[in-house]
Amino acid sequence: MIISTINLKGGVGKTTTAIALATAAVRDGKDVELYDCDPQSSASLWAMMAEEAGDPLPFPVTPANVATVRMAGHRLKSTEDKWLFIDCPPNGRVMDEAADCSDLIVVPTTTGPADMVKTFETTDTLGARGFLFAILLTRVLPGTLSLKQSLGELADRDTSYFDYQIPSREGLKNFFGNSFGDDLYGYEKVYEQIKQSIKEDKEAYGAN
Ligand SMILES: Nc1ncnc2c1ncn2[C@@H]1O[C@H](COP(=O)(O)OP(=O)(O)OP(=O)(O)O)[C@@H](O)[C@H]1O
Ligand SMILES: [Mg+2]
Repeated sequence: MIISTINLKGGVGKTTTAIALATAAVRDGKDVELYDCDPQSSASLWAMMAEEAGDPLPFPVTPANVATVRMAGHRLKSTEDKWLFIDCPPNGRVMDEAADCSDLIVVPTTTGPADMVKTFETTDTLGARGFLFAILLTRVLPGTLSLKQSLGELADRDTSYFDYQIPSREGLKNFFGNSFGDDLYGYEKVYEQIKQSIKEDKEAYGAN
């Protein structure tokens, strides 16, 4: 199974989402690896800092490139052997390759108007290429106008998005460089929804 976090906008929660979902998958007993395709190496730095703090992430984080991503696609796409999460930079060939080999693309975004514009640009591109994706609202502040507007836009566009939203939490910010504790801030529910959609996809196509 290959799940990528992709958005043409930077700073929308791609790395946080990849690490949190990978943690949820480990807690569900899956064999998990995370590929870090971003030249900024945020996920690798996160793993290194956690290791140095004596609280290593519960899965390996491996730097990856266009070739290693493509090979992983050949091995792991649509298999249950391993759950590979790919954290992408906001552009470039490696992002395109990750999109191509993913079973599902998670498109995290904040509810800010600038992020939403870039997010729809991202999903228009992914949709045109026939990829399976779902938008995930993150850093959500309940009751705000921007949340209301974003939910309205999602409904208007009839696009695919997760029912669950990740709240804005200072605690989540502070997890950079640490493993998650018991609280996965709603990412466990997003993971369950991913599992469910994969199951439905398999049933729809008659795979076992
Ligand atoms: N739910 C949240 N609540 C509060 N802060 C958050 C939340 N999710 C992410 N952040 C913070 O927002 C910032 C951007 O998150 P992150 O690095 O995951 O985004 P990104 O899309 O991977 O960025 P980049 O494009 O630079 O790779 C970080 O400082 C992170 O700690
Ligand atoms: Mg990142």
